[in-house]
Amino acid sequence: MMSSPDLDELLSAARDARERAYAPYSNFRVGAALDAGDGNVIVGSNVENASYGLSMCAERSAIFAAVSAGFRDFTAIAIAGPEGVLTSPCGACRQVLAEFNPNMVVVFTASDEAIETTAAELLPHSFGPFV
Ligand code: THU
Repeated sequence: MMSSPDLDELLSAARDARERAYAPYSNFRVGAALDAGDGNVIVGSNVENASYGLSMCAERSAIFAAVSAGFRDFTAIAIAGPEGVLTSPCGACRQVLAEFNPNMVVVFTASDEAIETTAAELLPHSFGPFV
C-alpha cells in the first residue's frame, strides 16, 4: 500500500497545479492538492472565464475532479496562492470541503507562514450534509 503524502508534499503538488491555473482576468493563480488516501493526490487549479462569475476556484476544481474520479474520503487539502499571499479558501469552497469531511486538514501558506486548520474550524456550525 502506498503511504499518505505529508503536508509538504501536498503543498508542493498544489504549487505545481498553480502553474496550470487559467487566470487571465485576475492573474491570481491558485493550486490545490487533495490527499485522497492510499497515496492518491488529486489536484485542481482555478479556471476563469470571460463571463467572470463562471470562474471556478482551485479547491472546488480539485474536489470535483477527485469525486469524478471516484474518490470521496479526503483527509487533507493544501492550497497555494500567489507566492507571498496567504490564500485561504473562500466561503463557497469551505462549504464544499465540509461536505466531504469536516475534519479534513486544510493547509495554506505564504512564503514564510503556514496555517494548518480544519474544514470545520473554517466553517463553524456549517449547513449539512444530510446524506
Ligand atoms: N481563488 C481560488 O481559486 N481559491 C481561493 O481560495 C481564492 C480565490 C480564485 C478565484 C479567482 O479565479 C481568483 O482566485 C481571484 O479571486
